[in-house]
Amino acid sequence: MKGVLICGGSGTRLRPLTEVTNKSLLPVYDKPLVLYPLQTLIDAGIKDIIVITGTEHIEQMASFLGSGTRFHCRFSYRVQDEPRGIAQALGMAEEFVDGDNVCAILGDNIYFDHLGKQLQNFKKGGHIFLKEVQDPERFGVAELKGNRVVSVEEKPLKPKSNLAQTGCYVYDSRCFEVIRNLQPSERGELEITDVTKWYMEQNELTATILQDQWIDAGTFESLHRATVEVRARRKGAAEKARNAGVQMMEKAVNGKR
Ligand code: DAU
Repeated sequence: MKGVLICGGSGTRLRPLTEVTNKSLLPVYDKPLVLYPLQTLIDAGIKDIIVITGTEHIEQMASFLGSGTRFHCRFSYRVQDEPRGIAQALGMAEEFVDGDNVCAILGDNIYFDHLGKQLQNFKKGGHIFLKEVQDPERFGVAELKGNRVVSVEEKPLKPKSNLAQTGCYVYDSRCFEVIRNLQPSERGELEITDVTKWYMEQNELTATILQDQWIDAGTFESLHRATVEVRARRKGAAEKARNAGVQMMEKAVNGKR
């Protein structure tokens, strides 16, 4: 399976920060945002990754990520001249994906779940990751009947559920043919939700509901929340390790008494 890291777009909701750099290069606690979705791909065993980004910050992105060697990956790059939608960005990866299955992940999405099992078991069709949210109208929204996805809508005014379609999309290589036949939405973009919808209509769409937190860090509030969350987990992990160390030491000392 190939990976596509989608980091273009204009980042309007984060201006003026995004006038300085790409949204995905903004800091989340102690590292740039892009490293979180990249880690999700790497944890799932994906090593061949194409980074799609806009013209303004391609240099910064490429000089930061490099060839991928230091992440034990191979990176390629493509520039999306205009932000004409996430599906258009994915469409640019067709040659790179070369008939393989593909996992596209948005450069501003942070997952705390491990997605490896679903990605490794994926054979054909489409697979999406859903998360219960308070404000579904901000996202693509999926409606489930039992385990079956029965509708997907992009930012609906009246969401049919509170299940957001998160920014990780697993498709077989037919997605590129689907993208070629898409029409732009009212906001002038090729919508990734329409690709997902195609797989749903073929009865070939499956979904996982995430158990842990997920953050779309594309607004000031959520970018800040991401930093707070990552910091809390890092501190929690450090505390746990320290306690385990103290316990080990106590055991060793007490054992000698
Ligand atoms: O985060 C999950 C949501 O992401 C989904 O629920 C929605 O269905 C999906 O449309 C998307 O919504 P957003 O409004 O958050 O998309 P945004 O415009 O913020 O773009 C998400 C990422 O994709 C961002 O890192 C920039 C990149 N992008 C976006 C566009 C429109 C591109 O690389 N090229 C583009 O043309």
